[in-house]
Amino acid sequence: MSKQPSRDDPSKPKQHGYEYKKQFYQSSEVAADYDEHRFRTPKRQRRNARKWAAIQQALALTDGVKTIVDLPCGTGRFTGHLARAGYTVVGSDISIEMMQQAAKLPSVSHENIKGYVRADAEALPFRTKSADCVMSIRFLFHVDPDTRRCMLREFGRVSRRWVIADYRHKYSVRYGIWKLSRALGLTRRPFERVSVKSMTAEFEDAGLRVARIINVRRWLSDKWVVLAEAGHVDPDSLKVRLAGTDYSDLEVTEKLGEGKRSVVYRARWQGRDVGLKVYKPAAIARHARKHKLPLAEFEHRRNRAFFDARGMSKYVAEPLGFIVEPGFQMSLQECLDGEVYYFAQREHADFISPRFMDDLAEVVSLSHEAKLYDIDLHAMNVMVDRKAGGPKLFDFNQIPFTERPQNPFIGLALKLGLLGRESRDLRKLARFNNFERVERKLLKYYEQHGTSPA
Ligand SMILES: C[S@@+](CC[C@H](N)C(=O)[O-])C[C@H]1O[C@@H](n2cnc3c(N)ncnc32)[C@H](O)[C@@H]1O
Repeated sequence: MSKQPSRDDPSKPKQHGYEYKKQFYQSSEVAADYDEHRFRTPKRQRRNARKWAAIQQALALTDGVKTIVDLPCGTGRFTGHLARAGYTVVGSDISIEMMQQAAKLPSVSHENIKGYVRADAEALPFRTKSADCVMSIRFLFHVDPDTRRCMLREFGRVSRRWVIADYRHKYSVRYGIWKLSRALGLTRRPFERVSVKSMTAEFEDAGLRVARIINVRRWLSDKWVVLAEAGHVDPDSLKVRLAGTDYSDLEVTEKLGEGKRSVVYRARWQGRDVGLKVYKPAAIARHARKHKLPLAEFEHRRNRAFFDARGMSKYVAEPLGFIVEPGFQMSLQECLDGEVYYFAQREHADFISPRFMDDLAEVVSLSHEAKLYDIDLHAMNVMVDRKAGGPKLFDFNQIPFTERPQNPFIGLALKLGLLGRESRDLRKLARFNNFERVERKLLKYYEQHGTSPA
């Protein structure tokens, strides 16, 4: 009969906190005791079986998964299961000791396990899009939210599409008891648990879309297994997607930049350079909650309305087309030759026409004449045309506040005529050369991505 797990077991962490745990498992003594402590009693085996069932449920919702990185694999709790289920698996962990333990266990050995790689989840040594799925169990909830976002971003980079991770949530009896105890002053112990909203936001910040949340055991367990989808497209898979469509000859030539909503590429299509926008799953999902038209179609139509408005075609990138498919949306527009106004003026670019601000004022008044509002006018969103020296617009605010006011007071003020539909654009036009907000945003971008937005 196996002994009951105890607080004194070598593999029971003695402190909270990610930094401690990152070091803790890098010990042979801890690794050797890990399975004994975690999985030997019947109760713990039942708990493991439930977790594996939830992981299988998540995997059943995916398609095309052949290769999985199990990260951290620890002593291989699920590495063997995955291999026996037919997946090609690579185990990965920061602790060599834990992986050595996994490699020793007969229950973990299988020909589908292709090896073990030492890796820090904060900066993975794997190539971009080198696996179909990254799975991370019993890990992220030990990590602070900022580092967690960074890790999720890494998982999304390495995975061609799917990420599976477990989270501790607050919709359980245990959480209710803790809340009550805290309210009664019986405990001051912190008990960090996520809500649906905070967890979804973490994934979205990392460029991932939550596809399904699976309860390991409703109310009785505080664990979810979360299935998420990564947002990037690689040029090869794009070719496959576009075969047989009007865009089958589209060739991606370079990545131009990445925003919150999309990744933008330069591409060749029908013998010309075009700008290709591939929308991120999280942005597609966010937009779908607000509007019945899919994001790519919505943006295409909005840009088209500006482009077609009287006198505006010389100021707006021509929208060329879009695709909306399950799990994939893209749009194409004229590739502009110019420089974003913020950088052009900073570098004193001599191609900025002296009439630039007058032209911009004309853009605003022509738009309003066509009853188009909320242009999102700021120095990173307007390009200076290298030939004409005037403004060229390529990206508009999504759903204008005139259509979907942010709060009821704005809606009421619009209705009562206290707020003009054109007010926001006129204010932005007047402040166009005040870069404070743009610089704050840029700084945030640099901090998050380490590069400037292209
Ligand atoms: C509680 S175990 C979970 C292992 C396994 N997934 C399971 O369910 O049994 C946590 C593992 O995370 C690993 N770990 C901690 N920090 C890490 C990091 N930054 N990168 C990769 N692995 C890490 C530890 O070495 C340990 O093996």
